[in-house]
Amino acid sequence: MGFKEQIDLNRLPQHVAIIMDGNGRWAKNQGKFRVFGHESGVLSVKDIVEGCVDIGIKYLTVYAFSAENWNRPIEEVNALMELLISTINAEAESLNKNNIRLNAIGDLKSLPKKCQDDLANVMQITAHNTKCTLTLALSYSAQWEIAQAAKRIAEKVQAQDLTLEEINEACFAAHLTTAEMPDPELLIRTSGENRISNFLLWQIAYTELYFTETLWPDFRREHLFEAIVDFQKRERRFGKISEQLN
Ligand code: FPP
Repeated sequence: MGFKEQIDLNRLPQHVAIIMDGNGRWAKNQGKFRVFGHESGVLSVKDIVEGCVDIGIKYLTVYAFSAENWNRPIEEVNALMELLISTINAEAESLNKNNIRLNAIGDLKSLPKKCQDDLANVMQITAHNTKCTLTLALSYSAQWEIAQAAKRIAEKVQAQDLTLEEINEACFAAHLTTAEMPDPELLIRTSGENRISNFLLWQIAYTELYFTETLWPDFRREHLFEAIVDFQKRERRFGKISEQLN
């Protein structure tokens, strides 16, 4: 039996987040340039989005470019930006056809203008789609996001639009870039690195973590289904004891 058949569709995670790692090593293993790994990684993104739509995952968030990735060699940064632009434009129609909404989180203003414009355009033309929301984390840093939220809350307090008593976890979450989504129940990181790397730090408080050795360009929907089967075997207690569940 394949992993897909083992999934209990009544207990699907609503939101899966992925740290797509290992593109560079995958390319290097084949004696190719790193960019070839990123290009191949786009095929994995496509397959995983289709896999999510296939089984009914409502939110998929992928870490496509971290704030720290700006420190890579300029040629690689440029190639990633160009790949991003060409991919979102090439996929716009297919996103619409499959009822998928494109969303982006991160310090989007730091992206090249063309990238910002094309992103805004594809986000707008897919805004009405309801089957799945694909969120690209771009120039994203969770610490940046948390600091931004704190700043916005402080501004509201200063303007007397918010009182100190109103600041709690829900209020804070509402000021994050992920305000409209449920927190991810499952976070996957590929390529054998067991780190969070500044991704969704607030939102993963109770998220199940899944680390796999598979490099991102080799990751396909069957690997996603395997991760979900593993997720469904876990007992999520949220601080309670086993006997209190159900
Ligand atoms: C990590 O591998 C991957 C990235 C920094 C970029 C991910 C980008 C894509 C998959 C393509 C663009 C995506 C979209 C949605 C258009 P790495 O380079 O850190 O690999 P390494 O650790 O082996 O060096």
